[in-house]
Amino acid sequence: MDHEEVGRFWNANADAWTKLARAGYDVYRDFLNTPAFFAMLPEANGLSGLDIGCGEGHNTRLLAQCRALVTAIDISEIFIAHAKQAEEQEPLGIDYRVASAVELPFADATFDFATAFMSLMDIPETDRVLAEAHRVLKPGGFLQFSITHPCFDTPHRRNLRDENGLTYAIEVGGYFRNLEGAVTEWLFGAAPPEVKQGLVKFKTPRFTRTVSQWLNLLIENGFELERVEEPRPSDATVRACPDMQDAQVVAYFLHIRVRKPEQTTAPFN
Ligand SMILES: C[S@@+](CC[C@H](N)C(=O)[O-])C[C@H]1O[C@@H](n2cnc3c(N)ncnc32)[C@H](O)[C@@H]1O
Repeated sequence: MDHEEVGRFWNANADAWTKLARAGYDVYRDFLNTPAFFAMLPEANGLSGLDIGCGEGHNTRLLAQCRALVTAIDISEIFIAHAKQAEEQEPLGIDYRVASAVELPFADATFDFATAFMSLMDIPETDRVLAEAHRVLKPGGFLQFSITHPCFDTPHRRNLRDENGLTYAIEVGGYFRNLEGAVTEWLFGAAPPEVKQGLVKFKTPRFTRTVSQWLNLLIENGFELERVEEPRPSDATVRACPDMQDAQVVAYFLHIRVRKPEQTTAPFN
């Protein structure tokens, strides 16, 4: 499966995803990933940034509200149409384009920074995506991205629960087996049955890479590692959103910031 085929899956997901996410059911995004990502993000005021795999644009709008000058791309034209509609309703100066992260339509050294919120693990050509992000960054620019945690988003995963239904462990397996497009069907767990009724489940192709594969691809593409976080919800967050209790047991997400050195040496490949 290549990035174009993956894009067709995401395009088919885009209407239901936008509806549910805008109704507040993407709770891991809203209560965990997005706050942690912005807490880790360096000052973006006045910088030019590219948001890669922006979806309907929720996090892109937050970036623009940090006074960054934001361009955003997604391979799904339906997601981009929803994002543009929000921009028309409440203009923030975001330039949205339909494009693939594998072939970014920008000149070398265009941006001060790039972000990718939960999108890079959805793209099969991991190496090319990182090479493209590196290419469009100015020397000294950074890439910050979040992905599902490679150690716990494995081909086999099962929540082990106690007698009260609380997760006490996650059983994982197949860590070293790279999934290359196995399709999972799901909807946001926080959405109640009456909301989910009538919606076609998302179909998301999965591409798993180990931690060492991610880190080595970043290094081989010329990046320097700058910051790593494994966000987990606070007790107060879990009280407000009990569905997220399992994210206190293991790290569900991995946030990484890397930088293109000022003095760039040629990437290894
Ligand atoms: C899990 S969603 C995340 C969306 C958004 N960043 C957010 O945080 O809500 C993954 C996104 O990656 C996009 N995507 C998948 N493959 C892509 C590619 N090759 N180039 C650009 N975007 C891609 C999908 O269309 C989808 O919008």
